[in-house]
Amino acid sequence: AAAGASSVPAPVAQPMAVAVAREVTVLYGSQTGNSHKLATKFSKKLTEQGLQVALSSMSDFKLNNLKKVQDLFIVVSTHGEGDAPDNAIAFYEFLHSKRAPQLEDLRFSVLALGDTSYEFFCQTGKDFDKRLEELGGKRIVDRVDCDVDFEEAAGEWMTQVLGAVSQSSAAPAAANAPGSSAAVQAETESEYTRSNPFKAEILENLNLNGRGSDRETRHVEISLEGSNLQYEPGDSLGVIPQNDPALVDALIAAMEWRADELVTVNKNGEQRGLRDALINVYEITTLTKPLLSAIEQMTSNAELCDLLAPGSEQDLKAYLAGRDLLDLIQDYSFKGIPAEPFVTLLRKIPARLYSIASSPKASPDEVHITVRAVRYEAHGRQRSGVCSVHLAERVQAGDALPVFIQQNASFKLPENPNAPIIMIGPGTGVAPFRAFVAEREETGAAGKSWLFYGDQHFSTDFLYQIEWQRWLKDGVLTRMDVAFSRDTDQKVYVQHRMHEKSEELYRWLQEGAHVYVCGDEKKMAHDVHAALLAIIEKEGKLSPEEAAEYVAGMQQQKRYQRDVY
Ligand code: 2AM
Repeated sequence: AAAGASSVPAPVAQPMAVAVAREVTVLYGSQTGNSHKLATKFSKKLTEQGLQVALSSMSDFKLNNLKKVQDLFIVVSTHGEGDAPDNAIAFYEFLHSKRAPQLEDLRFSVLALGDTSYEFFCQTGKDFDKRLEELGGKRIVDRVDCDVDFEEAAGEWMTQVLGAVSQSSAAPAAANAPGSSAAVQAETESEYTRSNPFKAEILENLNLNGRGSDRETRHVEISLEGSNLQYEPGDSLGVIPQNDPALVDALIAAMEWRADELVTVNKNGEQRGLRDALINVYEITTLTKPLLSAIEQMTSNAELCDLLAPGSEQDLKAYLAGRDLLDLIQDYSFKGIPAEPFVTLLRKIPARLYSIASSPKASPDEVHITVRAVRYEAHGRQRSGVCSVHLAERVQAGDALPVFIQQNASFKLPENPNAPIIMIGPGTGVAPFRAFVAEREETGAAGKSWLFYGDQHFSTDFLYQIEWQRWLKDGVLTRMDVAFSRDTDQKVYVQHRMHEKSEELYRWLQEGAHVYVCGDEKKMAHDVHAALLAIIEKEGKLSPEEAAEYVAGMQQQKRYQRDVY
């Protein structure tokens, strides 16, 4: 039917003798998949209470429908300097614009994910929460801000919201017909999750960089046999790391604690030896303001009190940057404080997520990851990335590693096997593209593919070089352009290669190509984004505004997806 001017509403068919369950809307904005996962879990619980749940990504939500929503629950994360996830941006901007409707009839609550080691902790969640209230909405449960170890706090928010919703809900539980769609996924799900990871066997652990490279990049192959864990290219592997035992020993020595003393490690009162707990349970490598405040409250340390006082924000920020718990206890004198109350102030070690580098079709029962060992010096001491150096130095073939799968619905191959794909992934950002191309080889997808890759040196840093060259020869990969930044006087990066090929790149876009960017967010992904806009503007003879619209349109059609960190 054509869009008519009729103001008579169409009759709505009501199923007879079935009470109509109240519909609640759950929207998520997710970059790495945590918010998506929590929103899905929460929706399932709402459905079990007899509510009708409309669950969607913020980017798929029809903005014009907002006025009709009565109950809105938002699960959203924050990245970098207070940035919203890619799939939350359009909704965020709409809500903060003049076009946003008044929402007097709305009941809402926000679950915010973030990291207390960043200045703009949970900023996106805070903004949504404030804005919904400004527009007239009624907050039925206070916002909960979660730190990186989000499980407990998120669970509490869900319980509170479920309580509030069921009190105000007129929907009888009987309205929840068995077999309703929200429960469909459950049967194929593995029992292994973030909070109950699978102890997977390491099959292989290799350094991909050649001798003389500044870099060490591990290619780790892991067995998923017997786990029933499933994944698709674009998903991530969650890895639970261990802290460096040498750092733990230094900490215990500095505090004059006893390594085998028992400490409580969770709310159920479970106890473990102190050394074991500091290696496996608690985070010791990041300092946050809430941690320092808690320690200050416990110790009444005067110097720490000064650092936390109003007016010292810049000093505090500078102090927190790049320091760990050992620095703190060396810089402030906490000797004599018993272990038990002290360590329970620490956060739990968060899982690290790595973009999966394998296709389950090409490598059944296995998962591969590509991990760059992070090592640097700061504040007079050698520092190591917790998980990457754990994998590089302390995990070998045959060892067990606790892992889980983190789905990432916003980084997926096109459904259409004939659609061209353009992959931009310098450094370890190339990992998911190894999965993409291996998958397309297995499925015999006919679509063209183009890889932009870069790193420091051709001879030592070309990750998976032999595989790319074979795929190119076999025609599974149509084009490859590489940029080695330190082989020439002038630095060349992937975005320079994109500019050089701008005409052809634009032609691919016009043919419906999907563009994927993976890797460093701050520098690379930012510059690649600018390059993409410039190419569209130049080749399409568009204004900057039109080029921006073009890219927004691609995002809307899920033809521009990013997995950046
Ligand atoms: P560089 O370290 O020599 O400057 C993978 O890590 C590659 O990304 C390296 O070659 C690195 O180059 C490069 N890189 C650094 N900054 C970049 C940027 N702004 N855009 C694209 N690539 C960048």
